Formats: sequence, C-alpha cells, structure tokens
Amino acid sequence: MKKLVVLTGAGISAESGLKTFRDMGGLWEQYDVTEVASPAAWRRNPELVMRFYNERRKALFEAKPNAGHLGLAALQKQFEVVIITQNVDDLHEQAGSKQVVHLHGELRKARSTDDPNLIYTLDKWELKMGDLCEKGSQLRPHIVWFGEAVPNMSVAAEFAKQADVFAVIGTSLNVYPAAGLLDYVSKDIPVFFIDPDELPVANRKNFTFIKEKAGIGVQLMAKELEKY
Ligand code: OAD
Repeated sequence: MKKLVVLTGAGISAESGLKTFRDMGGLWEQYDVTEVASPAAWRRNPELVMRFYNERRKALFEAKPNAGHLGLAALQKQFEVVIITQNVDDLHEQAGSKQVVHLHGELRKARSTDDPNLIYTLDKWELKMGDLCEKGSQLRPHIVWFGEAVPNMSVAAEFAKQADVFAVIGTSLNVYPAAGLLDYVSKDIPVFFIDPDELPVANRKNFTFIKEKAGIGVQLMAKELEKY
C-alpha cells in the first residue's frame, strides 16, 4: 500500500465547531498566547492556563468529527494513512484514523509536573489546581507549550520522508518545527494543500491547491487520489 502522510492544523476541526488560532475570531485574537500557552504563563498564573485549556477541553467533549476527519479515515482503505496533527483534539482518532502523531500534545490528557512520564487520560473536561499525580504533584495539561521541545517531531519527520503522497490541511504553517515538515518531503511526490484561504506555500512541482474547507476539500482530494 502506498503511504499518504497528512499534516493537519486547526482548520480541519473548524467545521466541528472548534476555533482556529489565527483566523478572524480565532483564539489568539481573544487571548495573548504568552499568557496561556507557555511555561512562564504556567509559573505566573496557572489558574488562567488551566481555565484556557478547560474551555478548550469542554468544547472538545461536545464536538464530533466532521467530513474532513471522516474522509481521511476512509482513505485508509486505499492507503496507509499517517496523520501528523498540530491539533490537540482527538477528532482524527474518533473518526477512525489508526495512525495519528500529535505534535502539540493531547487535550484529553494531563500529566504530572514532577514526572513527565506520568500521563493520565481525563474522563471529565475540568482539570483543577489540587488535582495531583500518584506522586502527589500538580497535574498540568498534556500540551506542548511555546518554548518547549516537540518530542514527536523526529517520528513525524521520518514519516514525512517516507510519504508517497503528502497533504497539508487547515494550517497556516506559522509554527515551527511543524511547518518545517515539508522540507522532509521528497520533491518528486504529489503534494495537496487544502485551505479556504490563501496558500501559505507554493513552488513545488506536482502540487495541487484545493481552495475549500476541509469537509469538501478532502472529498475532492480523495477523487484525485483514485488515480494513484
Ligand atoms: P491557524 O489558526 O494558524 O491556521 C488555521 C488554518 O486553517 C488557516 O490557514 C485557515 O485559513 C484554515 N481554515 C479555516 N477554516 C478551515 C476549514 N473549515 N477547513 C480547512 N481549513 C480551514 O492554526 P494552525 O496552523 O493549526 O500551537 O496553528 C498551529 C499552532 O499554532 C497550533 O497547533 C497552536 C497554535 O498556536 C500551540 O498551541 C502550541
């Protein structure tokens, strides 16, 4: 089976009702990123950081995968599909995607502030100050904050190198190292971009831009992929 590797961002979950970051009305218009998504913010005001991620988690508990997520899962019949996502939601998994690499962490999980290997799946949306790991330390959101290492980047880069087809869906490609993944993709393979807005990257051969929302865009890409 050929390998289809897909990099997704907040845009793929927009039609599920989850906000993107940099669009009009996006999260970084409402919040200062350095106040809620950095180790310094956690030291300064952990309650605010908790509240920000609790709101995100509450929205996720109410969200369902959309046609974009479901369409990518359906492509597993034809391809070995690897999703590399910057999203912290689990809508790809809920849609049935089997191989999902999370670059920026997972909202449904919390981890110990003392031992990063102690990771817990949350069964409720609210994480509170005073919720402790088994060693007695405060739990924090299992999120990669700005300024922190991206542990899954090396595995993601390896998948990008192995791709027979690559797709980029719903990301402004503003945040590194994730945005640099394209550098690992062979120049000879087809690359699809799906985004209703302008194209962040061009100048590749074998390149198709589908200027649509993910729901319809993934269907159009799947039609193109029938040829492969
Ligand atoms: P952005 O908010 O930067 O970009 C979202 C992209 O999705 C834009 O290019 C939109 O045009 C596009 N978009 C909007 N609606 C769409 C739809 N229905 N279908 C398809 N595309 C749509 O989000 P990301 O690129 O994912 O990191 O942001 C990357 C990282 O920045 C996030 O993971 C987060 C953020 O700060 C951390 O918090 C560490």
